[in-house]
Amino acid sequence: MTEHKPLLRALAGEAVWPPPLWLMRQAGRYLPEYRAVRATVPDFIGLCTSPDKAAEVTLQPIRRYGFDAAILFSDILILPWALGHGLAFKEGEGPVLPRLRDRAGVDALDPTRVAAATAPVMETVRRVRAGLIAEGFDRTALIGFTGAPFTVACYMVEGGGSRDFAATRALAYADPALFTLLINVLSEASVTYLSAQAEAGAEVLMLFDSWAGVLSPSLFAAHVIAPTARIVAALRTRFPSLPIIGFPRLSGMLIGTYARETGVNAVGMDTGMDPTHVAATLPPGIALQGNLDPMVLVAGGSALADEATRVLRHLRGRPAIFNLGHGIVPQTPPAHVDELVRLVRA
Ligand code: CP3
Repeated sequence: MTEHKPLLRALAGEAVWPPPLWLMRQAGRYLPEYRAVRATVPDFIGLCTSPDKAAEVTLQPIRRYGFDAAILFSDILILPWALGHGLAFKEGEGPVLPRLRDRAGVDALDPTRVAAATAPVMETVRRVRAGLIAEGFDRTALIGFTGAPFTVACYMVEGGGSRDFAATRALAYADPALFTLLINVLSEASVTYLSAQAEAGAEVLMLFDSWAGVLSPSLFAAHVIAPTARIVAALRTRFPSLPIIGFPRLSGMLIGTYARETGVNAVGMDTGMDPTHVAATLPPGIALQGNLDPMVLVAGGSALADEATRVLRHLRGRPAIFNLGHGIVPQTPPAHVDELVRLVRA
């Protein structure tokens, strides 16, 4: 059968035009219908583990904008939560986790919990696939995801967000055996978690490595490229034709090495990357995803038109996926997203 979903064609190496379009954090607080569902649950984890509500908010941006991909509504911190590490989302503060800095912390992680704890997420995946078909979105592919091991480790070691993840980087140098053990536990749990998403109906898998770029080249090789390559290889043996997108944010010139050595089908470019430079470093057939500045979606107007046109020009003639360089921010006017969809599809 010839593939009819534009995202899957681009990920198979075809220069689809106009490029398939979806946006990181396309489900979220900028949408009034999301805020309405969010108000019915006391906390964010409750939303991620309620399949009916999580499926509903996954579908909301598809109904509004007809994107080429739906992305499972969940969070990268659901994996450490499923391993038994604590997690809370504090209003206006972001995620808060216990700090993991010693062997006892790694030994307390329990991979045998992951399947049962993430069962609601798999139910969300099944409901979204069924919902897309029921609502006639037969060109929209479903993306499952997890945080890449290094980025998840960042939040666990730091105990939450950070400007520079200094404690995490210091630990990786001071106790390489401990840090590598943590990365290995997260890598194996990621394969389990992503395999379950694929079995439940995810058609593409994405690895968010939001903080990959804080590392030196040697630590990037050890804790970004090596575990990502192992995860990709393990998934390939089980799901040979399932495409994988890697997003090594802020990785700069190392993105080419990442693309060559991890085996991903596509790389996500962050806002600061020049698509022409990135394209020159990529092996043929790898799709480029990105990289409109999320702030241009806040500004709208001629800046939006100019920047979207510039990104489109760079994506033309090669396998590519139109996206942002990072997630949509809450203050984005939904009408500006309408305008972007019109510009990309015109
Ligand atoms: O629409 C989608 O993209 C799918 C859902 C999704 C969320 N988070 C929902 C969410 C995805 C793919 C993520 C990934 C994620 N989560 C990343 C990687 C991408 C990136 O942004 O760099 C990271 C680092 C996280 C961790 C995280 N989750 C933080 C730091 C926060 C707090 C910051 C914030 O925006 O409030 C979250 C919470 C979160 N995840 C929200 C949403 C919609 C907001 C919480 C709410 O609605 O109450």
